Amino acid sequence: MRVAMIGTGYVGLVSGTCFSDFGHEVVCIDKDADKIARLKQGEIPIFEPGLDDLVRRNAAAGRLQFDTDLTQAVREAEVVFIAVGTPSRRGDGHADLSYVHAAAREIARAAQGFTVVVTKSTVPVGTGADIEHIIREEAPDADIAVVSNPEFLREGAAIEDFKRPDRIVVGTSDPRAREVMAALYRPLSLNAAPVMFTERATAELIKYASNAFLAMKITFINELADLCEKVGGDVQEVARGIGLDRRIGPKFLHAGPGYGGSCFPKDTLALMRTAQEAGTPLRLIETVTTVNDSRKAAMGRRVLDAIGTPPRGATVAVLGLTFKPNTDDMRDSPAINIVQSLLDRGVRVRAFDPVGMAEARKVLPPAVDYANDPYDCAEGADGLVIVTEWDAFRALDLDRLKTLLRQPVVVDLRNIYPPADLTSRGFRYVGIGRGAKD
Ligand code: UDX
Repeated sequence: MRVAMIGTGYVGLVSGTCFSDFGHEVVCIDKDADKIARLKQGEIPIFEPGLDDLVRRNAAAGRLQFDTDLTQAVREAEVVFIAVGTPSRRGDGHADLSYVHAAAREIARAAQGFTVVVTKSTVPVGTGADIEHIIREEAPDADIAVVSNPEFLREGAAIEDFKRPDRIVVGTSDPRAREVMAALYRPLSLNAAPVMFTERATAELIKYASNAFLAMKITFINELADLCEKVGGDVQEVARGIGLDRRIGPKFLHAGPGYGGSCFPKDTLALMRTAQEAGTPLRLIETVTTVNDSRKAAMGRRVLDAIGTPPRGATVAVLGLTFKPNTDDMRDSPAINIVQSLLDRGVRVRAFDPVGMAEARKVLPPAVDYANDPYDCAEGADGLVIVTEWDAFRALDLDRLKTLLRQPVVVDLRNIYPPADLTSRGFRYVGIGRGAKD
């Protein structure tokens, strides 16, 4: 099948590349000429494990092309995806749909023959209907169906998630569009991925509801972690114990410094606004966002409490800056809040991240120093805080760290070390939700 992917950001590039890997002919479009020129050279603008190989292989086979002009690609395509950004609108938290609407207009002018227009971008309920309206206004005779097909890709595991999804959600009541979408995803039926066909508005809601539910799960375990710290109990064991109940499930129950990233903060906010405007506020989700924001803000204090009242000119070593491992994405990372609150209190920050330092330099204050590796980062510091659970931090040479740190204090915000590994070596160890033993 011929596919046009409008928007070559994270979702568009991963999805377009994976579709081409199934054997479809894909043209990825972006207005950013520089990005397209680089992609044509095989340069990948984002860090995503396995993506560069997949792009090069499919581009070499001629199934994956890049272009700045959508006209020809849309004219020839049976399926056109809209995968442009939907950032939070400043001020009100609503999703900003101006890129989506602009793409719809351009598609309307270019489409020929029956064309299925699919929203991949995360868009509020009703956007599919708006897009249809825009296209009809622009091109009254266009033979199109507008479908919602949300993505559930996790950064760092996006290719695996695309190729082995738990489910594929397709929202449309148009039988021709259903057939086209079924054919598009047929290669995935080999992996027994269920395709769930539903109404468009339902599909749009499923995406937001999934993310909001996961954010709620994380926030729930984070609050329980706080409780464990006060009353005793180990939150990891609590999570394991409740997760063995199949009605709850074990995933997304890792307590930590609060969720970040490009999706959860933005999508919970957008869903909240939609619900408020509809007069049915989602009070649980409102609370989740408030609790998560205050948690991220409180993490800096936790680090300061752990290192005690440091002498003037104290330094804290920060390991991990990205919002999670295997990505260079800094968006809404808890590290931003932590670094800022340390700097605000006059503490110097020396940071290391295996992949994210170039991105970090763009968003963190210029006062931050960057180290070459975890040991360089720890040298002479009054404490070390692990913010992101990169594999590279899981087996550090603790004896070496102890000799390098001025004060042997480790704040492990992801619970990647058994406390005894550190305390037995004379470290002061602070984890998350690891309360006193009975
Ligand atoms: C998420 C959704 O998982 C994905 O389906 C959706 O399409 C986009 O948003 P992503 O933002 O890439 O994906 O990362 P994810 O792995 O879900 O983690 C989000 C945040 O939650 C991270 O900050 C992570 O550290 C945090 N998290 C996750 C926890 O603190 N605890 C957990 O148990 C899981």
